[in-house]
Amino acid sequence: MATLLHIDSSLFPGEASSSRSVTAAFRKSWEEQHPEGTVIYRDLAAAPVPHITADAWSAGYAAPSERTPEQSAAFAARVKLIEELEQANAVLIGAPMYNFSIPSTLKAWLDSVLLLGRTAGETPSAKGNA
Ligand SMILES: Cc1cc2nc3c(=O)[nH]c(=O)nc-3n(C[C@H](O)[C@H](O)[C@H](O)COP(=O)(O)O)c2cc1C
Repeated sequence: MATLLHIDSSLFPGEASSSRSVTAAFRKSWEEQHPEGTVIYRDLAAAPVPHITADAWSAGYAAPSERTPEQSAAFAARVKLIEELEQANAVLIGAPMYNFSIPSTLKAWLDSVLLLGRTAGETPSAKGNA
């Protein structure tokens, strides 16, 4: 079954946000084309993900049996986000420009989900197929 991962990151709710209006229009079209599809939704302004930490980052490159309890706990939060990305056939990201960059909440999400050797690299698990 097709799965869309829809991420919004604007500070502003609903139609007050330009990027949310664009993602809502895309999502509506996607849902019409995939009536049996599933949408996973994350609003990074309403529910920000934690910034990556040294434990969360280094755990990604350590064998599970060698992780400290702190690394394991920090990595579990990353894995939840990574698995959402891996489930998705398509990813829809609302990314407004804030100070010539993306919102820091979206950068925090990227820092969590991008893991060389898993989601990123030569054979990425997060490659989509829509
Ligand atoms: C904190 C903040 C920083 C911004 N920085 C820029 C910028 O660097 N360049 C720009 O062209 N617009 C900037 N803007 C304007 C936004 O890009 C514009 O309002 C856009 O509609 C935001 O998308 P949104 O409505 O989905 O949040 C900024 C807006 C905010 C709130």
